[in-house]
Amino acid sequence: MPTLTIDPLHPDPAHIARAAEIIRRGGLVAFPTETVYGLGANALDAAAVQRIFEAKGRPSYNPLIVHVRDVEQARSLVSRWPATADALAEAFWPGPLTLVLRRRAEVPDVVTAGRETVAVRAPAHPVALALLAAADLPIAAPSANRFTELSPTLARHVERALGRRVELILDGGPTTVGIESTVLDLSGGEPVLLRPGGISADQIAAVIGVPPRPIAPSAYAGSTPRPAPGMVERHYAPRAALHLFAPHERSTAVALARREAAAGHMVGALLFAPLEAPLARAVMMPDDAAEYARQLYGTLHALDDAGCTLVLVERVPEGPAWDGVRDRLERAARSK
Ligand code: TXA
Ligand code: MG
Repeated sequence: MPTLTIDPLHPDPAHIARAAEIIRRGGLVAFPTETVYGLGANALDAAAVQRIFEAKGRPSYNPLIVHVRDVEQARSLVSRWPATADALAEAFWPGPLTLVLRRRAEVPDVVTAGRETVAVRAPAHPVALALLAAADLPIAAPSANRFTELSPTLARHVERALGRRVELILDGGPTTVGIESTVLDLSGGEPVLLRPGGISADQIAAVIGVPPRPIAPSAYAGSTPRPAPGMVERHYAPRAALHLFAPHERSTAVALARREAAAGHMVGALLFAPLEAPLARAVMMPDDAAEYARQLYGTLHALDDAGCTLVLVERVPEGPAWDGVRDRLERAARSK
């Protein structure tokens, strides 16, 4: 089993050296970040990065995030580093914020899917940072799951999804943020929020003085080329069907659960208040957005494992703190 248990706060240098060696010779290593587990390869080695796409079953039009250890390494990959990038990196790096900037020619096309921009982020996880330092290279890493499936928040999720497609998995325990990084495009005139995540639009606005423009939903409808891979409509999805319901739709949710249960299927639910329905698994979710995000994928993975075919999800509150969670739930709920 290619999994090494590693202390998330004080990673064993021998384990890190072994992982860095694999990265340096063009192999794949799955490692924890503060958001979700990543599937990493040397970002400057096109053949190594190509292996990521094969392992994930990911279409080649989806560019990857390049993980860097600091601003200096990020600047080595981009042709223009605007003042807003400096301010945002100062405020949120290392952390769950990815910046899309104009790239330098050294970044292989396979990383950027041929775009003139590259996404960079410094992860706030001691294991990820130690690996970046030991490999002494930028590391391209998407979430370590198969394409469109749920992102992994535990090493076990990676093992199950990717198994032997990865040479080594560093098991640093559960990730703390729980959903993917916020992706902010700074390559054009005005900052555009491509994916809500660990850092909210409010937090970004507080630093750059203006709220980032949210990407128009039409930008990722149908089969038009996506501005970003997270823009695939059904994404971040468990095997079970997800049904979102608002407080006034509780009776519809109950009826759905009854029908599904009568057909002999198991129904799960993510709730803020108990639901009078035949539920095989009812999970009470926290009313704090950060805590909800931390538990979300692990809970959905567990309901899948339990055999639930339908998961009823009570809608989360409005407001920017919940944008990341709401985005993931809405995408997961879109029908296949
Ligand atoms: O938290 C995270 O971001 C995790 C960990 C492992 O760092 N990574 C992750 O990568 O979620 P992935 O490949 O599953 O999602 C990639 C995201 C896309 O949704 C997209 O928004 C953005 O990266 N992206 C990458 N390159 C881009 C580019 N050149 N232009 C626009 N968006 C880009
Ligand atoms: Mg992903």
